[in-house]
Amino acid sequence: MTAVPGGAGCAAVICGVGAALPPHVVSNADLTARLDTTDAWIRSRTGIIRRHVAGADLSTTDLAVRAAAQALADGEPDPVDALVVATTTPDRCCPATAPVVAARLGLTGIPAHDLAAGCTGFLYALATAAGFIAAGTARTALVVGADRLAALPAPEDRTTVPLFGDGAGAVLLRRGSPDEYGALGPVVLGSDGTGAELIRASRPGALRMEGADVFRHAVDRMSTASREAATAAGWELGDVDRLAPHQANSRITSFVARRLGVPDDHRLDNVGEVGNTGAASIPLLLTHSTADGRLKPGHRTLLTAFGAGLAWGAVALTWPDLSPTRPPGYTSSGGSRT
Ligand code: COA
Repeated sequence: MTAVPGGAGCAAVICGVGAALPPHVVSNADLTARLDTTDAWIRSRTGIIRRHVAGADLSTTDLAVRAAAQALADGEPDPVDALVVATTTPDRCCPATAPVVAARLGLTGIPAHDLAAGCTGFLYALATAAGFIAAGTARTALVVGADRLAALPAPEDRTTVPLFGDGAGAVLLRRGSPDEYGALGPVVLGSDGTGAELIRASRPGALRMEGADVFRHAVDRMSTASREAATAAGWELGDVDRLAPHQANSRITSFVARRLGVPDDHRLDNVGEVGNTGAASIPLLLTHSTADGRLKPGHRTLLTAFGAGLAWGAVALTWPDLSPTRPPGYTSSGGSRT
């Protein structure tokens, strides 16, 4: 591909969003039939009511392709210059997911790679793609978060099975100016591998998590990163219209909002419908919230994430004017969104 001018004064601007969910839904009632748990316990501790789970016929690559295709349809019809896929659950360890996704979208020849940063992977991918745009490597870039986390817990582990679901989300970025709606502010990122054992999985079915410690770190890290991202963007926290946190669970995201002084009705939440979908979580939330009108053009929006690594991040942007396409497989009934 040909390098394009980037440099100072240019910003990466969100111009499309997309999402994909497997059609098969597993409700809390379905889980109570095979685990020693209750709908009331799961709802009160997590806010989760149901999650979508992929069968053997729906891979991480399939989900990523569907979400990316929707983001392309939603965005402006420029050629795509680069693609980054964030995932902890690639279909194979070799080759990477992204070149296959690109090929299935008819995008052979462009730079395409995967990255793994747990549930913060989408924000790492956003920063990477924005860097491609700033460096002049790309004029437009697709950023996809795709995960099949429902396969990670041991099937009999009631402490982790209810938490996770499968899905993918995507955004399309284009080169623009920092004062436009949709322009990303500086992306704040961090990691601490001394906490690596708090969430770990050597293979599907072998997830281990220290729930209470993870909860505490998640609230601390997302709150701190959010403050830093707001400051880097020149915002006061009182300026924030919408908080779009990684959908780990509603108790965690409520604590983060409270700690930041962001009113709870400014906190976006779709975890009740999809559970924790890892790297897919934030772009799924953005797509659903655009579709149901909770996220509107001009809303000053803070994205923040935390997850295995440990890794965390945040970024501020003013939400752009996007066409409100309702993603397939999504129902707005019975959700815990405010
Ligand atoms: N149904 C019923 N009881 C359950 C249960 C379930 N699904 N899971 C755990 N319990 C029980 C435990 O066995 C324990 O029983 P005990 O007191 O007799 O030992 C009790 O509930 C409390 O367990 P605990 O682990 O202390 O619960 P908690 O209040 O910490 O909630 C989490 C558990 C997982 C919901 C909470 O720790 C959490 O949200 N952690 C963060 C998880 C997360 O989001 N990870 C991903 C980050 S990206």
